[in-house]
Amino acid sequence: MRILIVYSSKTGTTEKAARKLADLLKLETDLTGAKDFGSIDLSRYDAVVVGSAVRIGSVLKDSKNLVSRNLVQLLERKLAVFLCMGEDKTHLDEYLARSYPQEFLDACLVKGHFGGEINIDKLGFIMRILMKKMMKDKEPPKLLEENIEAFAKEFEEEIASRRTQQ
Ligand SMILES: Cc1cc2nc3c(=O)[nH]c(=O)nc-3n(C[C@H](O)[C@H](O)[C@H](O)COP(=O)(O)O)c2cc1C
Repeated sequence: MRILIVYSSKTGTTEKAARKLADLLKLETDLTGAKDFGSIDLSRYDAVVVGSAVRIGSVLKDSKNLVSRNLVQLLERKLAVFLCMGEDKTHLDEYLARSYPQEFLDACLVKGHFGGEINIDKLGFIMRILMKKMMKDKEPPKLLEENIEAFAKEFEEEIASRRTQQ
């Protein structure tokens, strides 16, 4: 059993979350950015976790594209999805539904809300000013390590229970 985690990140938080998840999973796990997904031999993997940052209500384009372009191959594997985002969990299903095909979402054994971070220094000039204004009276979001831990546990339990059913 081998797991691939494929992440899409603009300012590094989703990559950090994906690395944390890879460390927590006890099964053999590889990690790749969505940009390098094309060079991956999916036949080596029994399970795939797709993770993306959210920007303006949707996941990043490369994450959307890799799921829609590889849907058939992905659906042959155990799947899970997580988002790094500033809003709370009540927005998770809305962002997922707006971003990925329903077939993919229906097949995901676990859907994770990992929280997020605003990495002001990694934003462009205009975005930095906009974000500072938007975040003025708000509590900054945080990466939710406990959600990453719960996700790792739940995904491995789901995989194990499906193995015993086979
Ligand atoms: C320009 C911009 C737009 C964002 N839009 C949303 C949004 O619509 N909903 C949300 O929950 N979080 C939003 N966020 C928060 C990001 O999802 C969060 O900062 C995430 O951790 C970024 O991950 P990354 O560092 O991997 O790119 C936005 C952040 C930026 C910088």
